[in-house]
Amino acid sequence: MLDRYPPVNPKCPHFLHGGDYNPDQWDRRTWLEDVRLMKRSGCNAMSVGIFSWAHIEVEEDRFEFGWLDEVMDLLAENGVQALLATPSASHPAWMSAKYPEVLRVGADLRRRHHGGRVNYCLTSPIFRRKAAQIAEKLAERYKDHPALLMWHMSNEYGGECHCELCQQAFRDWLCVRYGSIDALNAAWWTSFWGHTLSDFLQIESPHALGERSTQGHWLDWRRFVSDQMLSLMLDEIAPLRRITPDVPITTNAMGTYTGLNYWQWAPHQDVVSWDSYPRWRDDDSDWTMAAEVSFKHDIYRSLKGGKPWLLMESTPSMTNWFAVCKPKRPGVHRLSSLQAVAHGADSVQYFQWRKSRGCSEKYHGAVVDHCGHENNRVFRDVAEVGEILAKLDDVVGTTVRPEVAVVYDWENCWAIDACRGPHKERKDYEQTCVRHYRPFWSAGISVDVIDQTVDLDGYKLLIAPMSYLLRPGFAERVEKFVQAGGWFVATYWSGIVNETDLVFTGGWPGPLRKLLGVWVEEMDALYDGEHNTVVPVEDSSLGISAACRAEVFCDLLHAESAEVLATYGEQFYAGSPALTVNSFGAGRAYYIASRNEDAFLSDFYGRLVQEHGLKRVMKARLPEGVTAQLRSDGERQFVFLLNFKPAACRIDLAGEEFTDLLTGQAVEGEIDLPGYGSEVLEKK
Ligand code: GLA
Ligand code: ZN
Repeated sequence: MLDRYPPVNPKCPHFLHGGDYNPDQWDRRTWLEDVRLMKRSGCNAMSVGIFSWAHIEVEEDRFEFGWLDEVMDLLAENGVQALLATPSASHPAWMSAKYPEVLRVGADLRRRHHGGRVNYCLTSPIFRRKAAQIAEKLAERYKDHPALLMWHMSNEYGGECHCELCQQAFRDWLCVRYGSIDALNAAWWTSFWGHTLSDFLQIESPHALGERSTQGHWLDWRRFVSDQMLSLMLDEIAPLRRITPDVPITTNAMGTYTGLNYWQWAPHQDVVSWDSYPRWRDDDSDWTMAAEVSFKHDIYRSLKGGKPWLLMESTPSMTNWFAVCKPKRPGVHRLSSLQAVAHGADSVQYFQWRKSRGCSEKYHGAVVDHCGHENNRVFRDVAEVGEILAKLDDVVGTTVRPEVAVVYDWENCWAIDACRGPHKERKDYEQTCVRHYRPFWSAGISVDVIDQTVDLDGYKLLIAPMSYLLRPGFAERVEKFVQAGGWFVATYWSGIVNETDLVFTGGWPGPLRKLLGVWVEEMDALYDGEHNTVVPVEDSSLGISAACRAEVFCDLLHAESAEVLATYGEQFYAGSPALTVNSFGAGRAYYIASRNEDAFLSDFYGRLVQEHGLKRVMKARLPEGVTAQLRSDGERQFVFLLNFKPAACRIDLAGEEFTDLLTGQAVEGEIDLPGYGSEVLEKK
């Protein structure tokens, strides 16, 4: 069965390649040079108007579209598509001066002054009205323009506002959620320290001068901010949907930025997109960072159930806000661009098209440098990616259907961050999820990264590290999943609190206790440098024999119905269970009670992969630092082979045969990958 998504917009059945384009900083002569260079670099899509509010609405209700008309026409004449932005990320100075309520109030309760960007109040009716109005004007003006490909909503929505308007909106939001102040008091456990409230009016945001010890309050504030920002975006979207119902919409997100729950944002966009700025170091450690980036790419593919997403920003060279700003070494630009494509991106977009002459981002990597011409390394790197993407039309719209899913949940992340105990410095939720993801990345096994609300059908192995907060219904759905034959892996610090941060009474891991067949009685936290050992039980069903080190967290538990696979080697709890498996229905549920070293995770997941017969993208054994990722339309299989080590390597293809999609040549026997090498193959 064909499993292929239509292109983002049928107008362009190709990969998008281009970037943030700021013609409002330049004159027409430069624009003409820009379009010439766009064609030379194989760029076909530009994000336009992101920070152009002040150039379009030059004073209140006086609009000047002339320059943008010209730019849009030029793009269209030259075969370049526009991702037209609503400009709300940077509102004009006249607006702040006339309507101070549009400016944000910080957690210190001081109102920001005009400046920077993303400095607007999330609630201000004036701001919302004006943002919707300019979106409407843009839609009316360009609805039939041949260059209009899609809408780019604002830019990196983020942050929060503690002004009185936002405080009142928070109270209203809570009122809807809880219905009565008693219900809220119960959900937040406000009897603690006598924080009981008698009226919604007494509630304030968790600002620096106020309430900061009620985690339920904090969690609801996080949810409110995400919802409130979303409702602002929806206000901007409304006129676009009305006037241009067929033009797709996205907004550029920020990876695992915790300020907004992107899972709740995804259904409101036609395609999701994000801005990726990996910290390549040009050394032997790059591959571990590459796995972190892949993890995020896989979130974006999973956000809409496997639908291709857009890499909306990446740097063609260096990222100027890093402490040390390295240019990409040869091969890395092609590699990191193909990495995004490998995980489901249907675009490679950059920040930025052309370096500005002034202000804070003038040294940020760009396709066109200050020299102004195409005769430099970075431009050639970009043009090479343009040539490659042009050969990959058949990959557009393809996806992957992984058997493995790792759960990384935003609400759980908020709760873990807010939690006082059991280890202040080393909670590391995201890093832990990445460490559980990495053995699959290294083995070339596709993985979805989902949150606790996602449907589990179709997966064979579900891994949910540190599920401290359980969202309603998750435990029940995991039970059903295992009952039906799925394998589930949980770790220490799971099943502790509900969605308002109230601890499950009756023993951890709360609603997961029956499924996992263990009762966690206590938890040990270890100092840096301190460790325990995990010693496999002889002849256990898992068949692991090597002992490993455990750090930071060790749960002290009783196996109830579970089989003990390993025990602790040291401390007063030596000999007690450290790794268990519980047979449940047709499936199994594993509990890893401590934070174990990477060697354990590779070994453990290697066993599970083998026993459960999970599919690898290639039969080949991949050397450290190399991954293989798959995109398929259900029939053709496109394999991306990526080497994130600076050293070359040779891979034995284990009898499988491929075609090199970029050269058309047959690939059999062995393949040589240069340092930072990247290949796109099709399985024969
Ligand atoms: C973000 C923004 C861009 C630019 C880049 C620089 O992603 O969206 O406008 O500032 O960072 O890396
Ligand atoms: Zn506000």
